[in-house]
Amino acid sequence: MTPTVDYLRISLIDRCNFRCQYCMPDGDELDYILQQNLLTRQELLSLLQEVFIPLGFRRFRLTGGEPLLRPDVVAIARDIAALPETEDLAMTTNGFLLAQLAQPLYDAGLHRLNISLDSLDADTFDKIIGNRGQSRWQRTWEGIQNAYEVGFNPLKLNMVVIPGVNDGEVLDMAALSLERQWHIRFIEFMPIGNGHLFENNGWVASETLREQIRQRWGLEAASVTGAGPADIFQIPGAQGTLGFISQMSECFCDRCNRMRLSADGWLRPCLLNETGQLNLRQALREGVPLSQLREQVQTLLQLKPEINFKERDMGNSSGTYQRTMSQIGG
Ligand code: GTP
Ligand code: 5AD
Ligand code: SF4
Repeated sequence: MTPTVDYLRISLIDRCNFRCQYCMPDGDELDYILQQNLLTRQELLSLLQEVFIPLGFRRFRLTGGEPLLRPDVVAIARDIAALPETEDLAMTTNGFLLAQLAQPLYDAGLHRLNISLDSLDADTFDKIIGNRGQSRWQRTWEGIQNAYEVGFNPLKLNMVVIPGVNDGEVLDMAALSLERQWHIRFIEFMPIGNGHLFENNGWVASETLREQIRQRWGLEAASVTGAGPADIFQIPGAQGTLGFISQMSECFCDRCNRMRLSADGWLRPCLLNETGQLNLRQALREGVPLSQLREQVQTLLQLKPEINFKERDMGNSSGTYQRTMSQIGG
């Protein structure tokens, strides 16, 4: 059965204050979106109210780049939380600015966060995020603690597992779920953004990680709020859960429920397939009526099952996606 597509991932900005090696490699000067080409808060709200909500979208996730770099991020969260049709509002962030922003975001009505944390070791962390000066691990960790104390629930931590870089920390990360109600997610490294790093390191199958965890503590199936591709497990008796996002070993595209809106207003039906993108910002600014945009998006929704990435494409994927997650909208 084709799943209902009701989840929109909205990128607020393509810039980031980290340079995670798998995402935005250092040295490559990216062509950032010009300020005047970012969708404004009002344009975004109009698109949600007049195009996406009438077509059935009910779950929204703010992403980037790093969404907390957008000066009006709290106001945007408040706008979307206040829409009566919104059933789920979440954010994916690197956590660095959460020490200041967790409380205002929560008060604005955003109660669900996914935070990237690729290592518990400050040196490895700094290496992964591209050595941005003094250690950033501590402040990120404080941001995560702050979000937990403010009451974000569920609070999910994302670790992209890169062989030879952080795969030795899988048990330490899993152990975070024992005492805290945190949801730790292990993500198979996808060949997107930095093909070079991918070719050198490759990826580790989720089942290999599950086997390590099973041997140490045991593992059982579980569930947690979310509409994403993770398969959820739990260490028996643990407070939190473990999620596995396995695009490489168990392509989940046949249950895809989402579209992406980039910070400059391109609507993209599939993360890994460039086909069918619509420039909603340009159309809006040229005065195309919102009702007409709604029809175009509806047509795209019908085409989406065909556009979705297919398992058969997997063999062609190594290093081929040059646009980074930060540009597309993670
Ligand atoms: P929830 O379950 O609702 O919390 O969301 P999520 O897991 O989709 O959100 P998150 O932003 O934390 O994404 C985690 C990881 O899932 C990303 O790093 C990607 O690796 C993967 N992912 C998210 N969306 C897609 C997608 O559309 N396609 C693919 N292939 N991977 C995705
Ligand atoms: N493979 C897997 N996950 C990735 N992310 C960024 N680039 C990749 C990649 N090549 C993740 C980030 C963040 C989420 C939005 O996307 O770690 O958790
Ligand atoms: Fe959906 Fe494309 Fe992501 Fe697969 S790769 S889950 S089809 S957006």
